[in-house]
Amino acid sequence: MLCILGIETSCDDTCIAIYSKKKGVLFEKIYKQSFLHNKYGGVVPNIALNEHKLGLCLLYKQLDLKKFSIKGVAFTNGPGLQGSLFLGVSFAKAVAYFLNVRTISINHLEGHILSILLSFKFFAFPYVALLISGGHTFLVYVRFVDFYFILGTTFDDSVGEVFDKFSKVLGLGYPGGPVLENILQKGTLSLCKKIARPLLHTSTFNYSFSGLKTSAKVNFLKNSTEDKSVMSSSFHNAIFDSLIVKVALALRYTSVKNLVIVGGSASNKYLCNKFAYFLKEENVSVFTPPVKYCTDNGAMIALVGSFRTVMKKKSNLNFFLNTKSQLILETI
Ligand code: KG4
Ligand code: ZN
Repeated sequence: MLCILGIETSCDDTCIAIYSKKKGVLFEKIYKQSFLHNKYGGVVPNIALNEHKLGLCLLYKQLDLKKFSIKGVAFTNGPGLQGSLFLGVSFAKAVAYFLNVRTISINHLEGHILSILLSFKFFAFPYVALLISGGHTFLVYVRFVDFYFILGTTFDDSVGEVFDKFSKVLGLGYPGGPVLENILQKGTLSLCKKIARPLLHTSTFNYSFSGLKTSAKVNFLKNSTEDKSVMSSSFHNAIFDSLIVKVALALRYTSVKNLVIVGGSASNKYLCNKFAYFLKEENVSVFTPPVKYCTDNGAMIALVGSFRTVMKKKSNLNFFLNTKSQLILETI
């Protein structure tokens, strides 16, 4: 059985997985280091690099390469933390040399965008992907593998990033998304309308979350006696209101009926259920991968590696690194 080994080290998770086109994910291990970054309220690049060294050794020891017929080693080439990426690339090259197979360089964002195919092997294209992670926020029209059209992105902070930063303001630690979602479930859902929702009525698919983050912070400081779960629910609602407007526009513009939410913040059940509820009226179905494939994982990198092996073609996704959408709705 021909398999691809996937290595992901772009941020704070060290991930190794093996994917076979026929049988799906055959091996997957993650070494998480977020507990070390917790007290800093975000990822510290040097700590991440050191932990990846440890993580790669630990995970590699658990992998019995003889059991699999590895055809290629896929690794994340970016975007991400430079040192951590470099370590992953070096590790991948060494394993590939040892196995005498090729390396396959993968764009992390393509991994997230296609991660839905890990659990729905025959997922129907086209779809609109809302990628919301710690490093990125993108709205993408996915016609097929290797046929992506960026509709919008954020001008400043990403969705996961504002969850992390607001959690830090509340003194709740990193990663902020799961912590804020947990207290939300226990708390009331009363709305705080005072949190800003920037770019809501502009004529592009782009986002801005920096102002939302600042106004949430100002609000919290003014009402610091307010229950944190109330603040969290207000914050969740402000994020949702900002996201849904452009998502609905994108679905209408592309006439697509499938929305796929991916990336770390797609683990947020409250947000995803709200999307499903709101889009039901428009006959749009909402899909998210299981939590383990929302956050960073090696399986999505091995999966894309497997597509690339079949296509014998490099990704054209480098344009992702510095892209801002130029689409103006009025001109469409
Ligand atoms: O995709 P990911 O693992 O790494 C990047 O590619 O950035 O995403 C990590 C981000 C963090 O910012 C984290 O706070 C966010 O995903 N996240 C969440 C939740 N779980 C993780 N955000 C909102 N709600 C969650 N339940
Ligand atoms: Zn990611």
